[in-house]
Amino acid sequence: MATLNRADTTTTTANGGSGTTPAASVAIAMPSLPHPPLDADEFRRQGRLVVDFIADYYTRIDEYPVRPDVAPGFLARQLPEAAPARPEPDALAAALRDVRDLILPGVTHWQSPRHFAHFAATASNVGALGEALAAGLNVNPFTWAASPAATELEVVVTDWLGKALHLPESLLFSGGGGGTLLGTSCEAMLCTIVAARDRKLAEVGNERMGNLAVYGSDQTHFSFQKAARIAGIRRGNYLPGNDRGDHPDGGGRPSLRALRHAVAGAEAADSFSTNPHKWLLANMDCCALWVRRPAALTAALGTDHDVILKDPSAAQAQAQQGGAVVDYKDWQVALSRRFRALKLWFVLRCHGVEGLRGLVRAHVCMAAAFEAMVRADAPFEVPVPRQFALVCFRLRAAAAVVVGEKRARDGDEVAAAGNELNRRLLEAVNATGRVYMSSAVVGGVYILRCAIGNSLTEERHVREAWSVVQEQATAILAAATPTRSNGRTVRRARCDAETDVPTAQPLSLG
Ligand SMILES: Cc1ncc(COP(=O)(O)O)c(C=O)c1O
Repeated sequence: MATLNRADTTTTTANGGSGTTPAASVAIAMPSLPHPPLDADEFRRQGRLVVDFIADYYTRIDEYPVRPDVAPGFLARQLPEAAPARPEPDALAAALRDVRDLILPGVTHWQSPRHFAHFAATASNVGALGEALAAGLNVNPFTWAASPAATELEVVVTDWLGKALHLPESLLFSGGGGGTLLGTSCEAMLCTIVAARDRKLAEVGNERMGNLAVYGSDQTHFSFQKAARIAGIRRGNYLPGNDRGDHPDGGGRPSLRALRHAVAGAEAADSFSTNPHKWLLANMDCCALWVRRPAALTAALGTDHDVILKDPSAAQAQAQQGGAVVDYKDWQVALSRRFRALKLWFVLRCHGVEGLRGLVRAHVCMAAAFEAMVRADAPFEVPVPRQFALVCFRLRAAAAVVVGEKRARDGDEVAAAGNELNRRLLEAVNATGRVYMSSAVVGGVYILRCAIGNSLTEERHVREAWSVVQEQATAILAAATPTRSNGRTVRRARCDAETDVPTAQPLSLG
């Protein structure tokens, strides 16, 4: 028997065995909530507010500077120090006003058609609405029994996507493997490294843990090293080597048929992952991971003593039909999980594989156009071949020689000055607010990255982006005092260092 005594209510419940009051006759006075958290009519009203807000945002997104001009702490200073004890009237509308007036000015607009930094997080109506629906249903499909349809939709949709990507049959459920939807590639890498580690330790003995090594190239994403570290691989045991292909990480630049060479290595791989939230219209977050031997993954990540979580009758019924129950909790780090399949299923149904192919092709074409513009402009170079829709470019290091305050003498100085020049260029480009790009350092060389792939990006945005780069480069180079070097003109000095550019050709920076 439990008794609750509060100022506003007195509740008595009986467990039936107490022998005092029969449970059926107990009157329970529950406090009524002033704001029922789940109320269908209120949900309809509030939902419209949010949907209209998002739609208005998309129609005006181009008006915002892509990257905000704010200093750390700008938002905290404008918000109360503690949460309200009680909500104000129509609190959601008031909160949305704050989103518009306080939060959006400090947001980097990833969905802007002029956001070219990092990677494109392609969004879609149905991707966002799939998220909303999953949030509304709010199920937790950690086992098949915990939400059978959510689990089975994930099985179906990962096979659908795997086929669309031309993955080998052996990575699909239909071929004895199988896929799952996680939040990020980092999770996929961690799970698969742990499975590979355990498989190896079973072979060589746990005492050899310190000898285990992972191989990756100097271009492998840093998250791979991080995952290896979390999996207990010693820091020094990350070794440079050829891509052994155990887990090709698409990192979200997935390929459809037109780019199928990208998945060529998957034949030899034990697992493969890619992020549909990076190019395939499945709003954050959605990482698809496929494995050839699900048993290796579940052996590493499965948990014993989970009688409470498993539904033996469901497992039995499925086993009788000859299929194994998929309990996705054994394919990931966490127990709880989101119903991501709904969103990806929406995307695949509403856009179709051909629709996604068209999207990818359009972005690759825009990137090729950007690359062509860079290559046509002599002071610039494309130091790393374009991959998909990512163009890496920079002002040639030789240009730095003529803008440096102190003339660079040896090769290292020229390289350092070139890096500094490009750093300044990126800063100037991003400070315009008209575009946002990011950078990388490859083999000590600082490069600018233009990653094309946002749903709202059109060719005109790509052309404008290039104009901004040209304008800023012109301004930076023009601000430098024209000097004569070895009796030659500045123009000639800039181009001389590069054998592929005719020295007589005029620079076109304007
Ligand atoms: C190739 C590659 N691998 C891994 C990652 C990390 O992805 P996530 O943020 O999904 O963990 C990225 C992110 O851009 C990537 O490009």
